[in-house]
Amino acid sequence: MKIFIDTANIEEIKEISSWGILQGVTTNPSLLAKEGVKIQDVITQICDLVDGPISAEVISMNSEDMVMEARQLAKMHKNVVIKIPMCEEGLKAVNCLSSEGIRTNVTLIFSVHQAMLAAAAGADFVSPFVGRLDDIGSDGIQIIKDMAEVFRIYEIKTQIIGASIRNLTHVLDCAKAGAHIATIPYKVIKQMVNHPLTDVGIDKFLQDYNKSK
Ligand code: G3P
Repeated sequence: MKIFIDTANIEEIKEISSWGILQGVTTNPSLLAKEGVKIQDVITQICDLVDGPISAEVISMNSEDMVMEARQLAKMHKNVVIKIPMCEEGLKAVNCLSSEGIRTNVTLIFSVHQAMLAAAAGADFVSPFVGRLDDIGSDGIQIIKDMAEVFRIYEIKTQIIGASIRNLTHVLDCAKAGAHIATIPYKVIKQMVNHPLTDVGIDKFLQDYNKSK
């Protein structure tokens, strides 16, 4: 499973990308608002830091405007992937962009049915929101399992991005469920590095080394 970071914070992207493990970035209007930036202002910086799919979301609600917005964003860098919300107009936009060779990531996916439609429209990626499904008492990981199974049976090439990841368990479960990618917040990627026994082990090695000097 590939690891993407879900953030619009340049410092976070810089730090995690310096580890050499980052294969893509996803942003959304809420993450951009949190940083007080516009996608057009940060997309080039993000593309300079990470060589992989970089998702930038449109904010228009009709397909013609979505397509126009998408074309402008896609022009900025070859790695830009257009995030389109799951809705009827979104499907039309995805279909049109796909015929132009512009890659799309259909977001706000909460069911396998939605993912099947997005894939049929030509989406390169779908983003099921694990955490938000769990929030309403549904099972986000089960949706990913079912989606992965259906995509496997029909050899659908659309890649599943486990999104709305809130903790380490979500990351592991996405990997076991067959998500191709998990887009993970900075805080959770940092947690993936650590284990208390690793810290204890490092201290012990250093103490023993110093004793033997
Ligand atoms: O990639 C979508 C994701 O950012 C949504 O996460 O935590 O707002 O549900 P969250």
